[in-house]
Amino acid sequence: MSDRDTPVSELTEADAKKELARLADLLGAANTAYHTQDAPQISDAEYDQLKRRNARIEARFPALKRADSPTDQVGAAPAEGFPKLTHTVPMLSLANAFNDDDIRDFDTSVRKFLGLETAIEYTAEPKIDGLSLSLRYENGILVQAATRGDGTTGENVTANALTITERIPDGAEHPDIPNRIHGAPKILEVRGEVYMSHADFAALNAAQTARGAKTFANPRNAAAGSLRQLDPAITRSRPLRFFAYAWGALSEPLAKTQLDAIHRLSELGFATNPLTRLCTGPDEMIEHYRTIEAQRATLGYDIDGVVYKVNDLALQDRLWVRASTPRWAIAHKFPAELAWTRLERIEIQVGRTGALSPVARLMPVTVGGVVVSNATLHNEDYIAGRDSKGHPIRDGKDIREGDWVQVYRAGDVIPKIADVDLSKRPADAKIFDFPKTCPECGSAAIREDGDAVRRCTGGLICPAQAVEKLKHLVSRGALDIDGLGAKQIEQFYDDGWVREPADIFTLEERFGHGLKQLSNREGWGEKSANALFFAIRNARQVKLARVIFGLGIRHVGESNAGLLAAHYGSWANFEAAMTRAQVGSGPEWDELMNIDGVGQVMAQSLVTTFHQDAERASIDRLVAHLQIEDAPQAAHDSPVSGKTVVFTGALEKMTRAEAKVRAEALGAKVAGSVSAKTDLLVAGPGAGSKAKKAKELGIETIDEDAWLALVEGK
Ligand code: IVH
Repeated sequence: MSDRDTPVSELTEADAKKELARLADLLGAANTAYHTQDAPQISDAEYDQLKRRNARIEARFPALKRADSPTDQVGAAPAEGFPKLTHTVPMLSLANAFNDDDIRDFDTSVRKFLGLETAIEYTAEPKIDGLSLSLRYENGILVQAATRGDGTTGENVTANALTITERIPDGAEHPDIPNRIHGAPKILEVRGEVYMSHADFAALNAAQTARGAKTFANPRNAAAGSLRQLDPAITRSRPLRFFAYAWGALSEPLAKTQLDAIHRLSELGFATNPLTRLCTGPDEMIEHYRTIEAQRATLGYDIDGVVYKVNDLALQDRLWVRASTPRWAIAHKFPAELAWTRLERIEIQVGRTGALSPVARLMPVTVGGVVVSNATLHNEDYIAGRDSKGHPIRDGKDIREGDWVQVYRAGDVIPKIADVDLSKRPADAKIFDFPKTCPECGSAAIREDGDAVRRCTGGLICPAQAVEKLKHLVSRGALDIDGLGAKQIEQFYDDGWVREPADIFTLEERFGHGLKQLSNREGWGEKSANALFFAIRNARQVKLARVIFGLGIRHVGESNAGLLAAHYGSWANFEAAMTRAQVGSGPEWDELMNIDGVGQVMAQSLVTTFHQDAERASIDRLVAHLQIEDAPQAAHDSPVSGKTVVFTGALEKMTRAEAKVRAEALGAKVAGSVSAKTDLLVAGPGAGSKAKKAKELGIETIDEDAWLALVEGK
């Protein structure tokens, strides 16, 4: 067994010394690559694991700690990034579809939501593999440009975007982005994709090589790296291009249909994609997908699928947005790309929720232009060749260290293993023995009934879980603390400075001389230490949704946290409801389950977390340091905000689903049954027992027209 694989507890002093030297080299190189950005050599997870191994060896053999120990090398002063700005209209992302059936289902659900039997029109256009940009024009002048960021808050890259307006691409008549536009709405936010053509990408990489500068892995990285340059002079020298495909804030509508709006943007001087077509129904959509797919190799720029959008903007409006993706659009992704390589090792990572995730370390191989050296193996069943129901996958072939495996990569998702070539299996390859204890803390790792994942039972005592939770808390969608990233959390955790969330906020006061202590460390100066404490103080004031997301509760992702925040409005409300809720029954449980988008699994995970003493105490200690901003209530001023509404009987002007979404957007709660808490019953023809009960309880009852008049203020 090499030193690399020996558990820390079994290392001799001589082994440990060698291993520390190896880790110092590896991590040093990784740090350098990381700080030159856009060209990471190893994944964050891999980095973290090496870092932790290094810290454990140092903890066991303090005398062996090197002068250039990686423990002291992290925490370089945070880069002064771009100023942030809030999008007036959120920048949405798209739901994905992977096959023709998904597209038919999408069309069916759109028509079902709208209550339409007949075919409807969609636009179909290439999905550009770049990064999205929002351009704000006021009175025809480009005044601001912002990246998507988390969809709500992006980065202000105006100076860089302006350089795109100065450049006329080869073969074009004008820049892809106009500097000034005429005859447009007074306020117009144009959204689209910044990308780099294959030819420009190849030329840029050749020039970089000639200068001895780093090259880019693919055109998307090159475009992102070029747009997000702190020095606009560098962006100016990079041939960035743009396609407009959507819009944000508008002082007046652009058109009545998606296609006309795109034509209008084209007339105003924006580059729009020439492969945009109008299709009626799924057959035509899929046909256009095939046409675009056939041209993919010769387009001269990267695309990763086709985007369909409901053409009629009034229908788009009715379809509304679910969580962070619109109901009126979908991305039909191209199939994955494949390559064969050797699986060198299987490693186990422990995540924030204790999940033991097996990762395949591969002999690096190029898959569709990107070098892949890791792939996810999901869970132990997947390695054994079974799906979640026990049915064989890959014809039941298991995966072993040393195997020759087929890797597939679809878009930006983590690569996976598609197949194993048994004829190339080494004679001594052994069935992979999935650990039954946590490799990080030694606690039992168990599988609950029906769960495909084995989880460490160590909870907060497991350092891996604690660290991952902390990293999640400070991450971009949560508290978003500048200068406190994954690497700094590792450092502080290993030092014992930050062991649980609340510790972040007492860091400065606990180390009364924190500044001094920190600025004495390598990698930190007085300026960066000061900046960190400033950022931490700033992070105390935080939006409700970010706190809920930041708690890192299983199944509560960014969009679910948004739904919960919008529903409960304040931390006090949310916390009281979670404290009182009982899994499976009672009014608080029913209320939770009634939120559009909240399912049983997430609700159970939330409520259970709030009832675990240690977890709960940790949450309370954190929250005591925060000033949590209430979530904007869907619409304070609507005549139905705060009211509990029940729909019954047939609705003729809208479907039930649409009525519910619309009412919730106006701040109403929609309940399934009539009770003393009901404020309003909307009854269509054929209303039965609910109308009767409402009458008995003296609850106001109106018909669909009266409801529409009420919410539309007519
Ligand atoms: S529409 C409201 N159209 O894909 C919908 N997005 O996965 C807004 N993208 O964030 C997006 N080509 O960066 C749209 N023709 C296209 C696109 C496109 C690329 C990107 C965009 C978006 C992401 C969603």
